[in-house]
Amino acid sequence: MTTPPAKPITPPDIKSRKGQSPIACITSYTALTTRIVDPLVDLILVGDSLAMTVYGMTSTVGVTVDMMIAHGRAVARTARHACVVVDLPFGSYEESPAQAFRTAARVIAETGCSAVKLEGGADMAETIHFLSRRGVPVMAHIGLTPQSVNALGGYGVRGRGEEAVAMLTDAIAVSDAGAFSVVIEKTAEPVARDITARIDAPTIGIGASAVCDGQILVIDDVIGLFTEFRPKFVRRYAEVATTVEAAITAYVEDVRARRFPGPEHVFKA
Ligand code: KIV
Repeated sequence: MTTPPAKPITPPDIKSRKGQSPIACITSYTALTTRIVDPLVDLILVGDSLAMTVYGMTSTVGVTVDMMIAHGRAVARTARHACVVVDLPFGSYEESPAQAFRTAARVIAETGCSAVKLEGGADMAETIHFLSRRGVPVMAHIGLTPQSVNALGGYGVRGRGEEAVAMLTDAIAVSDAGAFSVVIEKTAEPVARDITARIDAPTIGIGASAVCDGQILVIDDVIGLFTEFRPKFVRRYAEVATTVEAAITAYVEDVRARRFPGPEHVFKA
């Protein structure tokens, strides 16, 4: 008899971790990285940060639903354990709850992921309520919301001064609307602390300090593959770009010196 695969972690499982042991989340965009991270983390986000890490764009604004579906499918097909969440890209959900539902339903049906993430606070509460009531678990995303970079005027720290009150209002609104978790990005620690204490949904911090119920980082930052810049909130756990560069340098030298391929790589008659 074969052992049935372990039950994957669901959005309600993530919600039930509020105030418990920290929830470990990371982004992944491909099958190969998903195979590595899936047994280790609680949640995998197919983030629209793939704009930069995969497609070389300068912001997340140009990502399309088709791009998210292609990568979401690769990740959801490979994951066996972690809860897989796919980002809804800019322009695919803000117009109305109905537009958001159409996009989310397509993303879930075509990728096999368990939930979607969308950016926005109180303005998105109606949409989050609409989706949650129709079988679409939603991860909310407040604080620095990169899809609004043009309106925000940059990627600065959020939640300082008077903005703290507005952020708490946003967090309560998305949690009460039914979000199963709330990402808080690049936000002053006192606000992240207040929000975490006040809302029912677990908070997942990225640049919001260890007070949150969990943490998320972009995989390419964690492994040192993305090296153009390093945000203050990133801890690099490996230097993969350096390792890859050394490997490719050695390969090219071997090719040029006819040391590769060797006899062991050759097919005999
Ligand atoms: O797109 C992304 O990768 C994200 C996070 C890192 C939270 O939204």
